[in-house]
Amino acid sequence: MPALTLYPLPGNEERAQAIARALADHADVQVAECVVHRFPDGETLVRVQHPEAGRQAVVVCTLNDPDPKTVPLLMAASTLRELGAVEVGLVAPYLAYMRQDKRFLDGQAVSARVYAKLLSRYFDWLITVDPHLHRIHELSQLYTLRCTVVHAAPRLAEWIKDHVERPLIIGPDSESAQWAADVAARAGAPVVIVEKTRMGDKEVRSTVPDLHLHPGRTPVLLDDIVSSGRTLVAVLDHLRQRHALPPVCIAVHGLFAGDALHEVRFAGAAKLAVTDTVATANDEGVEIIDLTQDTAQAVLDMLAGNAAQAAPTRATINTGAQP
Ligand code: R5P
Repeated sequence: MPALTLYPLPGNEERAQAIARALADHADVQVAECVVHRFPDGETLVRVQHPEAGRQAVVVCTLNDPDPKTVPLLMAASTLRELGAVEVGLVAPYLAYMRQDKRFLDGQAVSARVYAKLLSRYFDWLITVDPHLHRIHELSQLYTLRCTVVHAAPRLAEWIKDHVERPLIIGPDSESAQWAADVAARAGAPVVIVEKTRMGDKEVRSTVPDLHLHPGRTPVLLDDIVSSGRTLVAVLDHLRQRHALPPVCIAVHGLFAGDALHEVRFAGAAKLAVTDTVATANDEGVEIIDLTQDTAQAVLDMLAGNAAQAAPTRATINTGAQP
């Protein structure tokens, strides 16, 4: 039986307890403390419960709003290693900085690569849920640690089958095409893909295909991430003007920056569902699709040496080649 100790960073305690419960019959699992103290001057002190010999240490921290979390995260990982953890893994259901996967303008950081280098230096392995992969096709093109990706598609499709009659899946941009089609196939629904142009953080223009080909179907907008909410709002505005049936909005990662949740509702989302990767809004009315079992299974697979994506050698990655 694998032996592991989960170390939740603040805000991830319930998530760690849920994973521990899901693993209880399959692993010797404990949940230990990781205390993060912030000094008045803004510096941070991390204190972890001493890892027991022979156990894997697994830090649990979802990485929305990543900047204030990253320093404590790296300090915890480094300390666990110094104190003798066999390996230090990371369960980060939302993985930050994946969207800036290229230098769009001269001088910009390729944040996805910088962040990957940082985490890869401190952790031996990583489990995350549907990272935003677009120009980069696999995490192993960025990360030099062992990675497993949990795919939300089967759970999203189950949720749609249980909650929506005659759905029409709408992928809100070309990036969503592949996995919107996957969810649609699993849910036995047709799919259409919107053309999106983003002009700024909060400025999005969408061209929605003709929906008359799918009469009597409930629009189900399916995005991987809701951040400002503008991607969904642009499509919702279009649907409202065309008197479509009340639409459902589903996202894997509900970041809901600022007023996004309110704006998506106001634009006409009749129902909203997100997975549990981000502690979204304890807001009533947002349905949460639970991925605990899938995440726990990924942990077991990782500990059994069956990581879903093998990491390339460090030598390959450190060439500095553009992904
Ligand atoms: C974009 O590439 C993603 O797939 C999402 O569509 C995007 O991150 C959503 O952002 P927002 O909610 O700010 O429009």
